[in-house]
Amino acid sequence: MDQHLSALLDELHQYGVAHDAGKTDRLDRLRNLEPETAALLALLVRATCARSVLELGTSNGYSTLWLAAAVREHGGRLTSVELDAGRSAQAAGNLERAGLADVVELRVEDAADALARSADAHWDLVFLDAERPAYPGYWPELLRVLRPGGLLAVDNVLSHADEVAAFRALVSAERGVSEALVPVGAGLLLVVRARLSG
Ligand SMILES: C[S@@+](CC[C@H](N)C(=O)[O-])C[C@H]1O[C@@H](n2cnc3c(N)ncnc32)[C@H](O)[C@@H]1O
Repeated sequence: MDQHLSALLDELHQYGVAHDAGKTDRLDRLRNLEPETAALLALLVRATCARSVLELGTSNGYSTLWLAAAVREHGGRLTSVELDAGRSAQAAGNLERAGLADVVELRVEDAADALARSADAHWDLVFLDAERPAYPGYWPELLRVLRPGGLLAVDNVLSHADEVAAFRALVSAERGVSEALVPVGAGLLLVVRARLSG
C-alpha cells in the first residue's frame, strides 16, 4: 500500500475513534471497521481476485477505501451503498483524497433495494455492515446475488452475537454454503456459496 493511502487510512481511523467516543446514540457513530478486519477484507479481495464487489453500509468510507484499493489492483469495481446522504458525501470526499473515486460507485440507497436490483450471481464478494436486525431478511437475496464460489463477509458477529443469531441460524441451515468465523476485530463471518448445487 502506498504511503499516501496508508497515512489517510490512519487519519480516518483516528478520526472515527475520536468521533464515536463522544456519541451516546449508536446511530450517530461512524462505526468504522477495525483496521485489522479491513486489512483482512482487502486481502480476501486480492486473494479471490474479486472484480465485482458490493458493500452494504458505507458510513464515511473507511472500509470502502480499503476495498477500493484492493479491487483496483486487478481491474475490479466496488459499489457501496449507504442510507445517509451526508455520510455518503463524506465517503466521496475521502475517496477523492485517496485517488480511488474512479473505481467506486457510491449510492445513497437502502441495502435491501441494492440487493433487489442486483442480477442473479452478479457479485464476487459482498461485505455486509449495516443494521443487523435486517440481515435475516437479506439472506435469500444475498444467496441469489452471490456468484457460485462468491464470498459474503459479515462484521460484528462476535461483538453482537445475539443480534445476528437468527441470521447465523439461516446460514447454518443452508446446505449450499460453507462458513467460517474469523475472530478478528468485532468478529467476521465468512460465507462461501457453493460452486455446484446439489
Ligand atoms: C457499521 S456502519 C458501516 C461502517 C463502514 N463499513 C466502515 O467500516 O467505515 C453502518 C452504516 O450502515 C448504514 N445503514 C444502516 N442501514 C442501512 C441500510 N438499510 N441500507 C444502507 N445503509 C444502511 C448506516 O447509516 C451506517 O452508516
